[in-house]
Amino acid sequence: MRRPHLFTAIASALLLMAGNTAYAQNNTTQPIDAELSALISELNLTGNPAKGIQIPSIQSPKAQLGMKLFYSKTLGGDQTTACVSCHHPVLGGGDALSLPIGVGSVNPEVLGPNRVMKKDEMVSVPRNSPTTFNVALWKQHMFHDGRVKRLDKYSISTPDVKHDQGDPLAGDNLVQAQARFPITSMEEMRGEYMKGSYNQTLRRGLTERLQDNWEKSFRVAFKDHDSPIRDVVNEQNVSVAISEYERSQLFIKNSWSEYVEGNTQAISEQAKRGAALFFKTQANGGADCASCHSGDFFSDEQFYNTAMPQIGEGKIAETKEDLGCYSITGAEDDKYQFRTPSLLNVEVTGPWGHSGAYQTLEGVTAHMLNPKKAVRSYDMGQLKQKGIDLEHTRKHTADALMANVDIKPMPNQAKQDVKDLVSFMKTLTDPCVKSRECLSPWIPDQNSNDPDNNMLHGLRKAGQRL
Ligand code: HEC
Ligand code: HEC
Repeated sequence: MRRPHLFTAIASALLLMAGNTAYAQNNTTQPIDAELSALISELNLTGNPAKGIQIPSIQSPKAQLGMKLFYSKTLGGDQTTACVSCHHPVLGGGDALSLPIGVGSVNPEVLGPNRVMKKDEMVSVPRNSPTTFNVALWKQHMFHDGRVKRLDKYSISTPDVKHDQGDPLAGDNLVQAQARFPITSMEEMRGEYMKGSYNQTLRRGLTERLQDNWEKSFRVAFKDHDSPIRDVVNEQNVSVAISEYERSQLFIKNSWSEYVEGNTQAISEQAKRGAALFFKTQANGGADCASCHSGDFFSDEQFYNTAMPQIGEGKIAETKEDLGCYSITGAEDDKYQFRTPSLLNVEVTGPWGHSGAYQTLEGVTAHMLNPKKAVRSYDMGQLKQKGIDLEHTRKHTADALMANVDIKPMPNQAKQDVKDLVSFMKTLTDPCVKSRECLSPWIPDQNSNDPDNNMLHGLRKAGQRL
């Protein structure tokens, strides 16, 4: 019994000297693990993107109220849509469509791939619904073009004020600031309701609807039983509650974080090869993905032109194109730039890209390895969603190639690279996001109290609950 004991002691001493906890936990000293371990320490990865960020519990009274509001059509101008129409937990915190459908759907209760616009109407929302999972982790920018932006500790810029000025009504955090805008969008939730009025007048109008039936729920959530009703049921508290619900959607426990914490068995050999490609610079034979998808959150929150194909109507009504950040800043260099998405749970957040141009993770990954080649061979056949104008798609898909593209194709690519990268990105999936049961705290029970009987519970198709 003595020899193995001594051997283990020496081995662990050596491993401690190497400073690598991965070896200490089990003895699979594969060269790839050593390589990854070096990258992990060089890039300061910890496996925990939520460090130092306060995450509310879904059980907190405000998050519970926020959940009801998130699912309530009362906040939709024409009372057909709710936030959940485009951001359902079972649909990866999005809607599983390339381009979302807000007002004007055939059956507002149907969510996901079967959701369609009324006959002969085109899909009018110009960009893909991003996931609400892990939104609490954004520190600087919300939206694909960053139009909600943190300026400093105390102020946030929003579309209600001039670019780069603080919005006094933005609230305490980015998610709260963002939550005040979907209700103002005609295509998403507003329809023709209070057409032409200022955003703030509209918000007050919508909030008045809540005052008859929601008073008790608000008083309980905000622990305020004495103030006049307008100080409790108001648009600020609506956005506070909704944002607490969204911010409670933290899904960051995945096999990659286990690996970073030292369990070398947590991911497959193929995923390890993919990880090495992902994190290594091109000079070292990698794909350099982590230069933008950096840190434990896999985003640097900056903006780039990756020449992602544009599909649909585009953001600019006159020209039907989408110029990304340029529309916010007016700076020529910002054309076609979009925010680096986080890749946590990316497996379940498709279709991918700011307009949902890619239907497979393999497709968008091949794009990231060589945008020019991918755009030239972009297959419009993958766009099965009805109501997307292929004429504009054809016209604008290659536009971004004319500007400065920020991705250099990786030299010496092998067919296997896409598969390995995808295998790695799948290790970023928190198993909870694939389980209806695990997600159930974020989905209101059909029989739960619904203050004005206007909640949208969602169907996969007529008669089939989501
Ligand atoms: C019709 C579909 C639709 C509805 C309804 C909708 N959204 Fe969205 N949501 C989107 C789209 C599209 C974007 C991206 C727009 C952009 O970046 O230009 C978005 C962006 C967001 C973001 C930003 C995420 C990020 O990564 O920056 C959050 C958070 C969000 N929505 C929450 C909400 C809330 C809260 C509501 C209800 C008040 C709501 N959404 C209603 C489609 C929708
Ligand atoms: C120069 C910065 C940059 C580099 C390098 C980069 N990306 Fe991206 N990535 C982005 C941006 C920006 C987007 C969003 C573009 C858009 O939608 O217009 C994106 C989108 C994606 C998406 C789609 C995510 C979603 O939610 O739609 C995936 C997957 C992805 N990148 C993976 C990779 C991989 C794998 C690599 C390395 C081969 C890589 N990226 C390299 C900036 C970068």
